[in-house]
Amino acid sequence: MTAARSINADVAEALEEAKANYARVNPTSRATHQKAIPTMPGGNTRTGIFFDPFPIAWVRGEGARLWDADGHDYIDFISEATAGIYGHSHPGIRKAIEDRMDLGWNLGGHTALEAELASILIDRFPSIERLRFVNSGTEANMFNVQVARVATGRPAVMGFNGCYHGGFLTFTAATNPLNVPCETVVGTYNDVEGTAALIDKHADRLAAIIFEPMMGGGGCIPASLEFMQMIRERTRKHGIVMILDEVMTSRLSSGGLQLKTGVIPDLTSLGKYIGGGLPAGAFGGRADILDRFDPRKSDALPHSGTYNNNVMTLAAGIVGLGKIYTKEAATALNARGDGLRKRLNAVCDRAGVAMQFTGIGSMLSVHMRRGEIRNPQDAAKGNTKLRELFFFDLLEQGVHVMPKRGLMALCLPLTDADFDTLVAAVEEFVQARRSLFD
Ligand SMILES: Cc1ncc(COP(=O)(O)O)c(C=O)c1O
Repeated sequence: MTAARSINADVAEALEEAKANYARVNPTSRATHQKAIPTMPGGNTRTGIFFDPFPIAWVRGEGARLWDADGHDYIDFISEATAGIYGHSHPGIRKAIEDRMDLGWNLGGHTALEAELASILIDRFPSIERLRFVNSGTEANMFNVQVARVATGRPAVMGFNGCYHGGFLTFTAATNPLNVPCETVVGTYNDVEGTAALIDKHADRLAAIIFEPMMGGGGCIPASLEFMQMIRERTRKHGIVMILDEVMTSRLSSGGLQLKTGVIPDLTSLGKYIGGGLPAGAFGGRADILDRFDPRKSDALPHSGTYNNNVMTLAAGIVGLGKIYTKEAATALNARGDGLRKRLNAVCDRAGVAMQFTGIGSMLSVHMRRGEIRNPQDAAKGNTKLRELFFFDLLEQGVHVMPKRGLMALCLPLTDADFDTLVAAVEEFVQARRSLFD
């Protein structure tokens, strides 16, 4: 579906032309979006996947391939924003779900499944002594923050500018009107000295500090070890609960970035792929904090949720983590990701363009700028229009990456040939668009 391109004088013009080409070859996706507009605001129920002029309507996925409503197929380099690590329609996960369906799926009580998945997770994530299941990463963070506030008796939570922790608490913009009404302190990611000073200043009011050990959606920006260790040391000193949001990053080693860095938080939030690609989340950590939920206690904290232990998610997660994304598979996938990122950066270096890929292992992000990227403020200095163009140009070459943010997350069925296709597509982009770089 490659369209003839004109030589564009500037990025804005090139982007308009790319969008027009996209609209021309995707009439069914456009019609699907139009049909959704009367019933949902803007035809959308998930902000992060919308893009202009209209989103692709997907109809099918298999392995590492996606098919859209206009008959195009793409290599999937997003894997459902990290949740689809197993690839589409994995036969092992499918069987686990089908086997459970034979036994009924609304049993309305305990089963053996929840403890089985809990013990797999506890074996993998060093901070987790006990855990509870929820249905999303948002909920996992919400309960971690809330239990920290109860445990410490303090009101405030500290996070970092540009960090996303789900719909209830995002530090992306000071003006997010949907944040829960909770006192917040906002630091700058990777600013060791400034953050240490902020923690000391607000210690008496801080219940928790929450952060991702690598900002995922924010641009695959790793936290420095120094930054993580400082937060661990300061939170311990002041009796503040340290929460690692590993909703995305838990896939980056056999036990998340906490295992890889050795910085062990008090509480951890999980989500995404841990339920085999079905709606899932878990929050857990220190036994003395989590045991406050023990329903045998007269003063137990309440935490219900109809689908917390839904058998589909649990069965899929047990097979997913127990048999498919094993510790060995995690190590191998992340090593492949590191190799891919190096190849992509070599393409940028050879071409001498202001473009780079950041990340760790199986998660990477493209940035249209040179130099170190330590926080979202650095990332924002990149050419965002060129990054949008990158998305449309890669689509033309049958490669699907995250529309707005350039995020890529690898899934297990991606082959070396798929990697070669991505590298070639990036090579084509830097050559064809060379004159548009800053
Ligand atoms: C770091 C992080 N935390 C929390 C969430 C929220 O997870 P969910 O979308 O499952 O609610 C996300 C989602 O992308 C995330 O990236």
